[in-house]
Parts: sequence; structure tokens; C-alpha cells
Amino acid sequence: MVRKTIGRSRALRVLPEALLGREAPRARPVHMHLEHTTRCDHVCSTCIRAVRIDGEEDMPVAEAIGYIDAIAPKFMSLNGIGEPLMHPEWDVIARHAIERHGASVGMATTGTHFRDQADRIARSGVGLVKVSFHGAKPRTFSRLASGRKLEVVEDGIAAVLEAKERLGRGPSIRMNYVVSEQSFREMHEAVEVAVRTRMDAIYFKGALVQKGRRSGLAAEHDIDELTAAVSRAARLAEERGMRTNLDHWSREIQRVGQLPPEDRSPPAGRCLVPWVSVFIRVDGQVLPCCNCTWHPDEGQMGRIGEDGDFEQVWRGERFRRLRREMTEGTYSLTICQDCPDPVTVGQAGEMAMQRLWPGFLT
Ligand SMILES: C[S@@+](CC[C@H](N)C(=O)[O-])C[C@H]1O[C@@H](n2cnc3c(N)ncnc32)[C@H](O)[C@@H]1O
Ligand code: SF4
Ligand code: SF4
Repeated sequence: MVRKTIGRSRALRVLPEALLGREAPRARPVHMHLEHTTRCDHVCSTCIRAVRIDGEEDMPVAEAIGYIDAIAPKFMSLNGIGEPLMHPEWDVIARHAIERHGASVGMATTGTHFRDQADRIARSGVGLVKVSFHGAKPRTFSRLASGRKLEVVEDGIAAVLEAKERLGRGPSIRMNYVVSEQSFREMHEAVEVAVRTRMDAIYFKGALVQKGRRSGLAAEHDIDELTAAVSRAARLAEERGMRTNLDHWSREIQRVGQLPPEDRSPPAGRCLVPWVSVFIRVDGQVLPCCNCTWHPDEGQMGRIGEDGDFEQVWRGERFRRLRREMTEGTYSLTICQDCPDPVTVGQAGEMAMQRLWPGFLT
């Protein structure tokens, strides 16, 4: 309880610095992504792994603990480009962040290892598990997720829920639905799957694409079809009592849907991510944001150890330049130019109210 209160007060210290746009914030980020493994048993067609795989390795636990202690996060996403449950000691790492720093820990996962690891997941202290969906019909699901079987994932979710009931503890389970050109027509079916499997909520996430976009709506979507798909899914979710972020999609459609894709502006306001969050790659490289993993050759802010300790990198020249660009709206990173969801004050407020954040605040 005391730890949580301290955590909240630290989170409150970060915000003014983010809002003021301080280039070298005194506070450390409140959230971290830790890429503790790059091993994965899939090559999903939407993933950067379909384009490029730089190697597969697990981060040694001692190294992971070193990064966690250096940042002392209040929220941690145990994720990178890899399957988190394939690290043999993922729960040791999660437990350290929870017990030492009072962090809330979440992870996105394929769900294919749930049945084998159900008790471990329930006991780990991880608060939020996001199960990744790239489609909702069994065939689309399988086609876009390199052969993953919907029935295996559904069975895995049932196993975790059963372990949770038996042990009296365990995470909230949410669907992370990647909205792409191939999957948006199945959004209402995603609601059915989430209801059927007793998930707590669905976060519909705009797919990152290699080619540019300039708003939360990918240029290739037929806007009338997308509007119909969002309305249908939202109506069904309301009927079935399933929590989603579809309000956000409706607002984005209203804001820019009728404009040609090249004229769609990103949401107004500065993205706060480089002040509140950080991404640590498996080799200690620091990125400002998880989206940067989609452009592996840019966005490196420095490597912990090689370019100083964490605080030196966090307040170093590369991070300062990036924060300056954020303030001025002159993004040099392709991923920021094309970002589907910059985390502006408005967006952060919306997500916090719904408690439906992709990586943290839940
Ligand atoms: C890179 S994965 C790592 C975790 C795990 N391997 C999984 O797939 O859940 C993290 C998240 O990115 C999502 N993802 C995959 N391709 C994407 C894309 N093109 N745009 C946005 N998110 C994507 C996955 O569905 C998953 O929820
Ligand atoms: S999305 Fe996840 S499961 Fe699919 S290839 Fe990427 S890391 Fe692996
Ligand atoms: S603008 Fe988008 S890609 Fe850039 S830091 Fe913010 S959330 Fe990440």
C-alpha cells in the first residue's frame, strides 16, 4: 500500500516535466518495456519478424534485474519482439519488479503456452495478460499468426481462468486485437470470442505498417467499411457488456475519416511517451518507444553500459534532441511521423479513464 502510494507520487512528478517538455527530465520514466527475450515460435505476417529476424536470445536474469533496478518502474511491460513466456525465468523477472519496486506488470502473449504454464501465470503476480489476436475467424487468426490455432488459444485461456479460480489469484485477461486491412471486418467476431472466452476487455490496436500513415486510421482502409465495422462491433460490445476502446476509433473516424489519407493530421498535442516510458532491448539498447521496434535501424538512444548508465542515456543528447523534436512537432523518426497512436494528454486521459492502456496504467 505504502509502496503504491510512493509509486503514484513518483508518477505525479513525471507528469509536469512531460507537460513542460523538459529536455532532460529529473524524474525517471514510470513505465518500462523490457525485451527479456527475442525467442519466438511464430513469424506472424504483420510482425517485424516477417521482414527481419536479428537473432533469438534470452536476457540473463541478473541483467534484467540490473535494468529494472536502474529504472525502478511503477509499470512494466515484459515484452519485446519475442514471446514472453518462452523465457525460462520470465516469472522471476516479473516478480522482482513487483516485489522490489511495487510495479504493476503486464505482458502481451500469443496464448499458445497458457495450458502448460497456467499455474505459473496465475502465481506470478503479473496483473494483466493481453492475448494477441490478428483476426477473429479461426482461418484468419491462423493465417495472419503463422498457423496459430484459435482453439489452442481458447483452451489456454480457459486453463488460466481455471488456475485463477483454483488458486484465488491471477491476472486480468484482455484481448489485444491488431486492426489491419485483413482483420478489420472481423471486429464484431472478436467481441464474440472475447465474450465466449470470458476475457475482461478488448483493446483494438491500429496495426503498424511499413508504409506511412498519418492518423490512427490506416490509409488503405475503405472508410465506409471501417465505419460500419466499428459501429457493428461497438453495438455488440455494448449489448454483451464487453469493455473496448471503440469510442476512440469512432472519434478518430469522425475527426479525419472523410479526409483523403494524405491530409489526415495526427491527433493534436505532443506525444508524452519519451518522458514517461522507455524500451530496453535484449542487448541493452534504449529506445524511446515500443513502436520503434518496427524500424530497427533508427531510434537508438544509447546502449546501457556502452554509452553510460541508464540515467546518462535517459538525459543524454539523443533523448534531449528527440524530446525537443516532440515539442516542436518536427519528428525525425519515421515511426513518429507515421505513428498511429501518439500518446497526447487527451489520449492519455481517455485511456486512463477507460483503464484500457496498451502497455500500462492497468
Ligand atoms: C511483437 S508482439 C510480442 C508479444 C507476443 N509475441 C505476441 O505476439 O503477443 C507484441 C504485440 O504486437 C502485436 N503486433 C503484431 N504485429 C503488429 C503490427 N503490425 N502493428 C501493431 N501491433 C502488432 C502483437 O499482436 C502483440 O500484441
Ligand atoms: S507478433 Fe509476437 S508471436 Fe508473432 S512473430 Fe511477432 S513476436 Fe512472434
Ligand atoms: S509519436 Fe508514436 S512512435 Fe513516436 S514516441 Fe510517441 S507513441 Fe512512440
